[in-house]
This record gives sequence, C-alpha cells and structure tokens, in this order.
Amino acid sequence: ERIPEVEELLKKMTLEEKIGQLNLLTPGGAVATGSVVSKNVEDKIKAGNVGGLFGVSGPEKIRIAQEYAVNDTRLGIPLLIGSDVIHGYKTTFPIPLGTASSWDMDMIKHAAEIAAKEATADGINWNFSPMVDIARDPRWGRIAEGAGEDPYLGSQIAKAMVEGYQGTDLTQPQTMLATVKHFALYGASEAGRDYNTTDMSRIKMYNEYLPPYKAAIDAGVASVMSSFNDIDGIPASGNKWLLTDLLRDQWNFKGFVVSDYTSVNEMIAHGLGDLQAVSALALNAGLDMDMVGEGFLTTLKKSVDEGKVSEEDITTACRRILEAKHKLGLFEDAYRYSDESRPETDILTQENRDFAREVAAHSFVLLKKQDNILPLKKNAKIALIGPLGDSRNNMLGTWAPTGDPTLSVSVLEGLKNVAPDANIVFSKGANVSNDTAFAKKINVFGERIEISKEAPEVLLKTALTQAKNADIIVAAIGEASEMTGEAASRTELTIPESQKQLLRELVRTGKPVVAVLFSGRPLNISEEMEMPINILQVWHPGVEAGNAIADVLFGNYTPSGKLTASWPRSVGQIPVYYSMKNTGRPSSSVDFEKFKSDYLDSPNTPLLPFGHGLSYTEFSYSNVKASAKTLNLGGNLTISATIKNTGNFDGEEVVQLYLHDMVRSITPPMKELKSFQKIMLKKGESKTVTFEISEDDLKFYNSQLEFVAEPGEFEFFVGGSSDIKASGTFVLE
Ligand code: IFM
Repeated sequence: ERIPEVEELLKKMTLEEKIGQLNLLTPGGAVATGSVVSKNVEDKIKAGNVGGLFGVSGPEKIRIAQEYAVNDTRLGIPLLIGSDVIHGYKTTFPIPLGTASSWDMDMIKHAAEIAAKEATADGINWNFSPMVDIARDPRWGRIAEGAGEDPYLGSQIAKAMVEGYQGTDLTQPQTMLATVKHFALYGASEAGRDYNTTDMSRIKMYNEYLPPYKAAIDAGVASVMSSFNDIDGIPASGNKWLLTDLLRDQWNFKGFVVSDYTSVNEMIAHGLGDLQAVSALALNAGLDMDMVGEGFLTTLKKSVDEGKVSEEDITTACRRILEAKHKLGLFEDAYRYSDESRPETDILTQENRDFAREVAAHSFVLLKKQDNILPLKKNAKIALIGPLGDSRNNMLGTWAPTGDPTLSVSVLEGLKNVAPDANIVFSKGANVSNDTAFAKKINVFGERIEISKEAPEVLLKTALTQAKNADIIVAAIGEASEMTGEAASRTELTIPESQKQLLRELVRTGKPVVAVLFSGRPLNISEEMEMPINILQVWHPGVEAGNAIADVLFGNYTPSGKLTASWPRSVGQIPVYYSMKNTGRPSSSVDFEKFKSDYLDSPNTPLLPFGHGLSYTEFSYSNVKASAKTLNLGGNLTISATIKNTGNFDGEEVVQLYLHDMVRSITPPMKELKSFQKIMLKKGESKTVTFEISEDDLKFYNSQLEFVAEPGEFEFFVGGSSDIKASGTFVLE
C-alpha cells in the first residue's frame, strides 16, 4: 500500500535527488571495516547526496546532521542514522553466540529492547542487527555474532530480536528499524574464510540456511543487508534471484535492502565489471541502498542515460527508503532522536547493567564438572591465574564499537565484588599468545593481546607459586575479544599454546582447577576435556563480565546455558553439526568393519554436541511419551516428559524436543530441533513439560521446493542435549 505523503514527495524529486537517497555514508572511525571511508560528508548531505549516515552518534551531532539535511537541501528529507548495535549499545551484553546459549527468548528480546532504548537515546534510528547467519564452521570468526548452527533456534532468536528492536510502533522514540543480515548464506563461506565464496543446493538453503532470515521478515523487519559472498556465482549484492525473486516475490518483503560495506564496489574484484556495471547490476537486482561505496551516486545517472537502468527502478528503491523514514516518523519530526536529555537517563543505567549481568550469567555453559568443586565457597583462598583474569579490554567481545571496555568489570574485580571475604590473588601466568605478528593483527581495535615484557617462564613461575598456596585455582583463559568476529577466521581452533602450557602446569600442581574459558566460537578443547578440571564457558560476556562470572562461580546463579553450535574434536571434522544425515553407510552400521561413513582416526560425533550444558544440579528425564500413536493431517498431538531435579541445587533446564522424519522423499536429518522450554526446578522438584506438535512442525521443502509434510513414521527425542536416544515414534497419516 502506497503512503500518500511519500508519493507526493516522490513526484517532486529529481532523478539526482532520488539517487541521493540511495547513498549511505560513514565518516569512519571505529566503525570502518573496509579500506574506504566517506569524504566530505557534510557537503554531500547539504548537496542532497545522502540518504543515511552511520558511525555518528550523540543527540547533538545527529541534530546537526539532520539540520544539514532538513535546512540545506531543497526538499529537506531527514536522514536515517544507522549503527551496529550487535549486542547492546553502551550496556554491552554477551556476544550473540553467548546470548543464544541462554535459550531464553524473553531475555533475548528484552536485551534488544534495552539496546534500542539506549541507541535511540544517542540518536540512532536504524540498527544493523540481527545477524542470523547459520554457522556450522567455527573457523569462521563471525560465528560469534549469530545464534549458531540450528535453523529452528535461529529463527526463534531472529524473531525475538526484531520484535525487541522494533517494538510494535516504530514512531516511538525508543524503537529503531532492524536489519536482518547478511542475506544470504554468509555463514557458509568456504573453509570458514571470511568473505569467501559459498555454493549450496537450493534444498539445503531452504531447509537449513534461509529459515532465520525468513523468520525476521515474517516478524516485520524493516531492512535487509546483502552479504559479501557470492551465491551461484553472483555476489549477493547483485543477485536478482536472491534480492527479488526470493525476497520480494516469494517472501513478500516490503522494506529496503542495503548493501554491506562497499559490497557493491567489491563486485569489481569478484570479477563482474567496472563500477558502473556493478552498480547497475546491484540496482537491477533489487538493492536499494549503497553502503559507503558511492557507486550508485556516481554512476546511476549515466546508466539511466544509457538505458542500463530505469528511472522507475530508482524511484522504487527511493520509495522504499522514504517509506522507512516515514515509518520512523521522521517526516513529522526530524529531531525525534535528538533529545539531549535522554543519554543521561536512558544509557548504561544501573538497571540495564543489572540486566546485562543476569543475561551474561544465563549465557554461560558448564562444559565439564569435576569433583563437586563448584560452586566455590565465598571465603575460599583462590589463585586467579591467566591472561584474561584482569583484562577489561577483552570482556566486551567482538563488534561492540559503541561499548566502552574501560567500563567493564574484569574477572578479578567481579570475584572481589561478589566474595569480599575470599582471599584472592591474581597472576597473569601467560600471554594470550606469544606470537607478536598474530597479536598485531588482533590489536587493531585496542590492546586485546598484551605481550608482557617479562619472559613467559617468569610469568609462569610467579603464577605457580601463587597457585600452590591457594585452595583452588581459577584459570581465566581462551580467546581475546578480537580473535573472533569479522575477518578473524582461524585454521586452528585450540586455545593458544602459551595458555595450554599454563593450564597443564596448573593441573600438575594437584590443586582443584576451574577453567573459565573465553571464546567467540566453538573451540577444540579435546586435550582440556581429558584433564581433571571444571570448565565454564563464558564467551565474551559484556560489560558486567566479572560480576556475572563471580555470580556463577560462587553459586548465586546455577549455570543453565546450552551450546547452540557443536564443538569439534578437530578441525578435520568440520562441518560437524547435530542434524547431519545418516548416509547410505552409517557409522553405526554393523554390517561392515570398513567401507562406512566414518574416519580412521576420529569418531564422527563432535566433542561437545549442540544443546549440551551441565548444571551444578542434576536432572532426570522419565515418562517421555506421545499422546497418540498417530497424528492426522491437520490435527495435532502432544509429546510430554517428566523432568526431576535430582541434585543438590535449584536450577534451570532447557528441555529440548527433536524429531526424526524416518522416511521421506528427500534424505532427512537424523534429528531436528522442533521445540524447547526452559524451566526452573527447585531441588527435588519435578515438572511435566508438554510440547504440542502439528502437521506444520513436520514440514520441509521437498525437491520441488514445496513446503510439505509427508505421511509416515517419526521418532521423537526429549532431553537436555541433542545427544539423546529416541523415546518413541508416531505416525503422520
Ligand atoms: O553491519 C556491518 C556488517 O555486519 C559488516 N560490514 C560493515 C557493516 C556496517 O558496519
């Protein structure tokens, strides 16, 4: 449906003014993730050559930028003001892979609401989030920014985040436009190398990689960002099948599509022609806004003159951008996001910090427990050892350009805050890495890897002296913040050798060890899993990191996080994910000793499966059953299970339901997550959890890409991890 105000405006616009709206600029700074940054931004706004800006914040600055647009251009069209608010604005939440591990949709949505409230208080009206790329390759650094490997969970999270950012009324000044990204398949870059090519069958796309983008679109997301990679040989930013046939015609998307940073220009390097050619390709494919590259600005008019692009298509793109501005109420009040009183009251409030602390505690995953060491006593004698133990710089994680690391709480500070009576000593013990060339690459955004002047042997000796005098060792180790994220692909997924050596020595002291493990991706911790230690995975936990870690270590909160991406035994296993297919020669087959789909030197299973996560308490599952043996097409049935807290602590459990479609027209995954519930159980308490299943839950895309459920038998599985046995079957008929 057309918006009369926008249509009136379009009638008044010249071709140049329309093209101007398609241009998104940034003056650069900490947000520049490409080699190009925009020049003469002020002059370009005044000349009507800019539709939006990013990398600028603060109500005063935004007011000035809007004044240039409103007062100095002929038609006075206000600007979109974008930002990467990926996991919180100034109140930085855990990295998204961590937040996803909470499996708590209300919490995830509320974190997005807080991010929107803070960002809009600082002048932002358009967010470049959520990032929903399915990622099954932990070599890829950007796995940190998404929800992991599963399309169902990813879709739930996509929806929660869009609803959190956009609310129900985008004219409210506490809400902002969301952007689902990176459309599409960016997480499937070959070999986990960032920006690399992707190649995938349509069936895999539709069933496994596209659902979270679609979920965001169904939730009403305002914009879509095209990805850097190519699909079927055409980069996403110039891919008409993707941006028009799929997005508009099949999915009915009504918002606007923005490119990624210079991704239009990058089609030159991809090998598709010069700037004019790739800009025309992008516009004709259905891309509406060009981020930073200015190819649209500098070539589209010429392409219209030469008949390579139609003015009508430019009008369509411009309309979509004006409609977004209209949705925000910017035509009514261009200064809606320039309220100078808001930063003080809305940003980084104690309430927001308290919530970030709660989210962080819920995101931690207890990977391994040993000897009932946890939770720690609040008067214990603790040696906190490790390069991440006293580092504020590494707490926020990747893509937190609006956060301030100096305001974060280190592990040492957190332990002291939560247990003031504990006797705590700290020692670094090792560098994050001893490799100076590696450290230099990581330190682009600040000193994340600090290589000590002291020799590694000296660091180790001091640490061991402290460790030997303590009751317990807490080892804060793992990846520095920028070891994951954009352009942070790794070929080895182990903890850096400097820290592995430290941990080996700490274990050798014979003292109980709790490893507090930081990372932005699944790691290969095969060696550490064999050690007699506890391992608490804390990702990069955000601004309240240390407090949240201490809350969990000292038992103020019992860990309940579950992995949302499988942890491999080796890089050679990648991709390894829970919903793999059986193959014609499954590893489980007893017919052959050899000639099976497995490895000579490794099991097929991951080291730690999707859905895994322990608690200080224990849960038992019983009475897992379906309400009927058959499910009629169009009807439904329930699957239920009784879960009992059999341990010594109150705790939460994520109860997961998986199904296996046993016979169908295309090869099925062995298990697919279909639903989950997070429940709280007091010590000794039991609850019955019920899942309702209908035909819709059994649908998949067949070889004709029709979304269908096929009659036949299904196995069901209910448990606290994907690594569980089937409890029964039902038949769809
Ligand atoms: O939003 C980001 C995107 O995720 C990666 N390239 C840069 C964009 C804008 O900062």
